[in-house]
Amino acid sequence: MEQQYIRNFCIIAHIDHGKSTLADRLLESTSTIGLRDMKQQILDSLDLERERGITIKLVPVKMNYTAKDGREYVLNLIDTPGHVDFGYEVSRSLAACEGALLVVDATQGVEAQTLANAYMAVDQGLEILPVINKIDLPSSRPEYVIREIEDVVGLDCDHVILASAKEGKGIDDILERVVEKVPAPLGDREAPLQAMIFDSVYDNYKGVICYIRVVNGRIRPGQTIRFMATGGVFPVEEVGVFRPGFQPCDELAAGEVGYVVSNIKTVAEAHTGDTITDNGRPAASPLPGYRKVKPVVFCGFYPVERDDYPQLRDALEKLTLNDSSINFEPETSVALGFGFRCGFLGLLHMDVSKERLRREFGVELVATAPNVVYEVVTKDGGLIEAHRPSDFPEIGEIQEVREPVIKISLFVPTEYVGKVMKLCQDKRGTYVSMDYLAPDRVRLVYELPLAEFIIDFHDKLKSQTRGYASLDYEFIGLKAADLVRVDVLVSGEAADAFSFICHRDSAYYRGQAAVRKLKELIPSQLFEVPIQASVGKKVIVRQNVKALRKDVLAKCYGGDITRKRKLLEKQKEGKKRMKQIGKVSIPQEAFLAFLQVE
Ligand code: GTP
Repeated sequence: MEQQYIRNFCIIAHIDHGKSTLADRLLESTSTIGLRDMKQQILDSLDLERERGITIKLVPVKMNYTAKDGREYVLNLIDTPGHVDFGYEVSRSLAACEGALLVVDATQGVEAQTLANAYMAVDQGLEILPVINKIDLPSSRPEYVIREIEDVVGLDCDHVILASAKEGKGIDDILERVVEKVPAPLGDREAPLQAMIFDSVYDNYKGVICYIRVVNGRIRPGQTIRFMATGGVFPVEEVGVFRPGFQPCDELAAGEVGYVVSNIKTVAEAHTGDTITDNGRPAASPLPGYRKVKPVVFCGFYPVERDDYPQLRDALEKLTLNDSSINFEPETSVALGFGFRCGFLGLLHMDVSKERLRREFGVELVATAPNVVYEVVTKDGGLIEAHRPSDFPEIGEIQEVREPVIKISLFVPTEYVGKVMKLCQDKRGTYVSMDYLAPDRVRLVYELPLAEFIIDFHDKLKSQTRGYASLDYEFIGLKAADLVRVDVLVSGEAADAFSFICHRDSAYYRGQAAVRKLKELIPSQLFEVPIQASVGKKVIVRQNVKALRKDVLAKCYGGDITRKRKLLEKQKEGKKRMKQIGKVSIPQEAFLAFLQVE
């Protein structure tokens, strides 16, 4: 296909504004998929995606469209995820396109990710076509939303398209507008090959499949290619296009979007964002714009049955074949045995990965509470990357602790502004700015410690604004904070598995909660068991698990009071001795109940 008849575009939107439904309509309307094969949200291929109604992995598809000018065009559509954790996937798909449909819900208006995604598209220099969706709903307010797009996003809405993905309204207008407005790809087909990998998946039969956008040159089976970042050299076995399944073809040339299979064993060898070139006639430089993602939220995954460790490792390996943004390394815990410390892009990403391990690989696992990575500067000038509380040095040796901080933008109806500001302050947020997007909507910007954000920020925000607030965040770096390690001691011995890091001001409150919870979980022993929380050497909270007491007076009917007393004294003595030598065995269930997050 000649480049002038190719259009590469994507759909960007806030979550639930109707991207996937709109994509379905486009596929139908271009007869890419027969009505018979149409199931709802065909591009959301993971079961989990359909169930949760969210897009997690992006899926490209090629459509043929005969425009009103009578010519046939190839439209490559890349559906993108809308959730904040998957922003990186959005940026990848944007880099493969020349245009973007910005879908905005006519009842909701511009939300946090509408803006974040639109800015990303502007940065990449894409032609943005605003589409107002869901105009079939009685509560839709297209006029109002148009003003919002113009004022808040700063896009010209003269040619805005009013659509209803549900009823199929406006779909033809969208296709025509894409042909008319989205620029055809440029690129020299005779130049050395440069193709950008925007995603890669693992297939049991084909191995790693790289999704590529050819920017210059051509790629065909038999050619030997080189991955410019990793240096790997492979023969091309197959190239093809997305229909939306894989359909082999003879060649992909500059401007085209498709896939390449080349006997690569792991996704790690095919980095998203890397440039593929011809090994014999390499390009002078790789394509720009590649950003390596770094996980920011960590947690431990442990098999429920200890024997399942090898299965869990296999499953994680396979999962990372498909999602290279996850990383993991072996870890052992006194409490939970052998497991893995895994890093994710965010909480939802963690949740989804856990669920996928369970469903796709049948692994039952225990996930520990998520945490972040701290940087500890010691008094002797050392720098420690602390992944877990036990990595923290003694309190006297610490010069400074730094924690990851995010900048969070919240779109909130005015009536909830007070509550949201309080929530942010409670979470140690620092106010940055507030502006009115409309008379009844405000954008609040705060800087917030990531550690506080991942505890329960989302849930609290949702419940306090009845689901009317939306948010977007970006990682901005590390900042010093007054953080301490709270140790939990059971019967005077530090139980590593229970210690945690928190701000000094909340150490008492969090320590109390932990001690109380443990008190319920540890069964009574023959002697009294103190449970304490301490910062450094200082105990800040203490509670006792009462001792089991044998009724030593049972056999002593009547009789002298001194005799009873004697028996009791003897018991007390015995208990004291026992306490010195007795070790508290904390049952596995207690560890699980304490460490596991639902
Ligand atoms: P993510 O993939 O999670 O980012 O969401 P999405 O933007 O792809 O939204 P999706 O297509 O899953 O649609 C969200 C909900 O809105 C679904 O329940 C759709 O049925 C509904 N919906 C989509 N378009 C329309 C529309 O034009 N009118 C009405 N009434 N409902 C719509």
